[in-house]
Amino acid sequence: MNLEALLAARLAVALEAVAGEPVDPVVRASQHADFQSGAALALARKLGRAPRQIAAEVAARADLAGLAEAEISGPGFLNLTVADDVLVALLAEPVAPPPVEPQRVVIDYSGPNVAKELHVGHLRSTIIGDALARLFTWAGHDVVRVNHLGDWGTQFGMLIEHMADLAPKRALSGPSGELSLSDLTAFYRQARVKFDGDDDFRTRARLRVVALQSGDGPTRQMWQRLVEQSERSFVADYDRLGITLGAADFAGESSYQDQLASVLDELTAKGLVVESEGALCAFPAGFTGRDGEPFPLIVRKSDGGFGYAATDLAALRHRTRDLKGDRLLYVVGAPQSMHFQMVFAVGRDAGWLGDAATAEHISFGSILGADGKMLKSRSGETIKLADLLDEADARATAPAVGIGAIKYADLSADRRGDYVFDWDRMLATTGNTGPYLQYAVARIRSVLRKAVAEPGPVVLGDPAERRLALALLGLEPVVAAAIEHCEPHRLAVHLHEVAAAFSTFYERCPIQSSPSRVALTARTGDSLRLGLDLLGIPLPEVM
Ligand code: ARG
Repeated sequence: MNLEALLAARLAVALEAVAGEPVDPVVRASQHADFQSGAALALARKLGRAPRQIAAEVAARADLAGLAEAEISGPGFLNLTVADDVLVALLAEPVAPPPVEPQRVVIDYSGPNVAKELHVGHLRSTIIGDALARLFTWAGHDVVRVNHLGDWGTQFGMLIEHMADLAPKRALSGPSGELSLSDLTAFYRQARVKFDGDDDFRTRARLRVVALQSGDGPTRQMWQRLVEQSERSFVADYDRLGITLGAADFAGESSYQDQLASVLDELTAKGLVVESEGALCAFPAGFTGRDGEPFPLIVRKSDGGFGYAATDLAALRHRTRDLKGDRLLYVVGAPQSMHFQMVFAVGRDAGWLGDAATAEHISFGSILGADGKMLKSRSGETIKLADLLDEADARATAPAVGIGAIKYADLSADRRGDYVFDWDRMLATTGNTGPYLQYAVARIRSVLRKAVAEPGPVVLGDPAERRLALALLGLEPVVAAAIEHCEPHRLAVHLHEVAAAFSTFYERCPIQSSPSRVALTARTGDSLRLGLDLLGIPLPEVM
C-alpha cells in the first residue's frame, strides 16, 4: 500500500473544499515528521490569505482519523505523523507493483556495433536499459527489448575486403574456425589503416559496399560471419553482467534495410521530404542549425544510400506499426539527443507517433575518469567492457560484488549527469555503494539464521524501528516514481536509505529473541532483495 498516496488522497478532499478546486497535496517524506505537505503555502498565496490559517483549515477538515496526526509547522506546513498501528498493518502486506494500465513498452538499449567490442560507452545504456526493462516488467507492462545493433553501413566494405584479403592465408579462422572478438577489434584497426593509406584498397572497399547492398553471395557470407561472431561475444558479456538481453533481442540496423525505400515513399507521399543539395531530407519544425537555417534530417544521402537516420525512422515505424508499441524508450547517450528529437518529430508528422504511441529519449551522461575527462585506458584508448569486468573480478571479493559495484555506481546517480568511475569508492563496503547493500543483505541473512524467535506481530517501540518501518513502506511509491520518470536512481538511493535505517536499528535494538524485530528484519531483507533484483544487481553467495 502506498502510504503517501493514501495521505494525499485524504488531504486532497480537504484542500479542494478550502480552495473550491482540486489542489495537489504535495505529500513528501520529511525530516521533521513522517510526511509533510506544503500545499497550504501555495494555496494561501493564490487566495491571498495567511498560510498558517489555510493549513489549520485543511487540518481541521481532513479526514485523518485513525490514520495520522496533522500538526501545523513553520510558515504553514502540515506535518503528518502516521499512527503506529497503521504502519504495522501496512507492513503486513507484501510490496506490490504500482497500479498501471498495462502498455507495450519497447526499450531500445545497449546497441553496440559489430566488429567493435562492447566498450564503456555502451555500458550505461546496457545497465540503465536493463534496469528499466526489469522495472517495467514488474509493473505489469509488456516489455519488448530491442538491441539496435550497428551491423550495417559503409565500414563493412573495408572490413569484408580486408577479410577477403586475409582469407587465403586462413588468418581469420584457426583450426577451430573461430575468431575471438578481441582479434576482431585488431582486425578492424588493420582494415582502417589500409583504408586510410591504400588507394587501391579504398576502391575495392567501396565496391564491396555495393556488393553487400546488392546481395552478392560470398560478400553476404563474410558479413554474416562478422555479425554472428560479434553477437556471440556481446551475449557473453551480457551473461557475465547479468543483463536480460538475449540473442533473440538483436534487431540490427540491417534488419530494416528492406523497409527503407517504403519509409521514403511514405514520407514523400505525406509531403515530408524535400530535395536539398542532392539529398532527400525532412525538415521537422523547430530545428535550426547554427546559422539559423532549418536543419535537415537526411533520409536518403546524395549518393542514394540510406544512413543512421533513415534506419531509425524505419525502426520507429516498425515499433509502432508492426510491434504495436504504445511507448518507445531509447536509452542512448546525451550526444544523440538532437538526432532522436528530430526522428520523433518526423514520426509525429508522419502519424506514427501521437495518440497511438509516444517516444522518449532516455538520455544519460558520460562515465568520466579521475581526471574529469571521458574514461579512457592508461594508453588513452577506449576501455573494452570485458577488460573492465576482468578488473572488477580482480579487485572484488567475488564476481557479483564487482558487477554489483559497477552497476550500482551507474544506477545510483541521476542518469542525466556524468559520473566519475572510481574503483575504490565503488567497491567500498560503507557509503552509498553496491557492496554496502549486498553486505546489508548478507548481514540480515546471518541475523535471521541465528534468531531464536519466530517472526511475529510488529511493535514499533524504538524510534529506529519506526524509521525503518517508514523506509520500508517508502519502497512502493519510490518504485512507482522510478518507473514513471524512468529514473532507476530513485530506487537505488532509497535502497541505501533502507539499508542505513536497518543499520541504525541493528545497532540499537537486539533482534534475536524479539518476534517483532525478527519480522522487521525479514521484511527488510525481502525489500532489499526485491529492490536489488529490480535494478539487476546480483547478490553474492557469501560475503
Ligand atoms: N549503435 C549506436 C551507437 O553506438 C547506438 C544505437 C542506439 N539506438 C538507436 N535506435 N539509434 O551509437
